[in-house]
Amino acid sequence: MLKTKDLSYWYDQKKNSLFENVNLEFEAGQSYAIVGQSGSGKTTFLSLIAGLDKPKAGSIELDGKDINKIGLTNYRKKDVSIVFQSYNLFTYMSPLNNLLTAMSVTESRHAGDKEYAQQMLAKLGLTDSQMKTNVQQLSGGQQQRVAIARTMVCDANLVVADEPTGNLDEDNTTEVIDLFQQIAHEQGKCVIIVTHESAVAQACDNAYRLEKHEFSAV
Ligand SMILES: Nc1ncnc2c1ncn2[C@@H]1O[C@H](COP(=O)(O)OP(=O)(O)OP(=O)(O)O)[C@@H](O)[C@H]1O
Ligand SMILES: [Mg+2]
Repeated sequence: MLKTKDLSYWYDQKKNSLFENVNLEFEAGQSYAIVGQSGSGKTTFLSLIAGLDKPKAGSIELDGKDINKIGLTNYRKKDVSIVFQSYNLFTYMSPLNNLLTAMSVTESRHAGDKEYAQQMLAKLGLTDSQMKTNVQQLSGGQQQRVAIARTMVCDANLVVADEPTGNLDEDNTTEVIDLFQQIAHEQGKCVIIVTHESAVAQACDNAYRLEKHEFSAV
């Protein structure tokens, strides 16, 4: 589904490249963990995959099409959904309105379907009153579940997450991993997670380590 072709990236000079000539393939219906030391370039790699930045060399293809040709704005809106460490929800809205807004902005096939959004939040353990309260009144684990519910109600087939369990305790981490596995296995999406935590990496279907400018299977 997603392919990197001779992908290279550096910030200042080519001789300081973070990674070079990376050729990886990510399939729909599978989850992938990316691990590696702090500063190795994991977040940078994810930002390229998410269409937030452009490769210095090489390309990224979605279903055989260069994402630059799709147009990065279009790609970010329709094809990819992002979960960050710190939830990135609209803090002045309820969980329900966070989902409805995302569904509308991305023109999801479920756009406007309030019942569908409510069902998803309920499935993820939010009560009726929690769905309608301000997101800032929820715990970190609950907020992260809302961020994940948002990717589940949108149509994007690629879900990328940067340290999504970084702020969570063990129980919430387990729940969040289970949800990502559901997104991959039940919704058939491709899930790519950057993580420091070996428990998260082990729970994913595949894992790659970024080390010495190269990715290798773990
Ligand atoms: N905007 C930027 N301009 C210049 N250098 C940058 C920029 N962003 C990141 N870097 C550098 O690129 C390297 C890789 O950063 P990146 O954030 O991708 O690493 P990471 O693997 O995600 O690390 P961590 O595990 O700590 O999150 C680091 O040395 C960082 O200092
Ligand atoms: Mg990072």
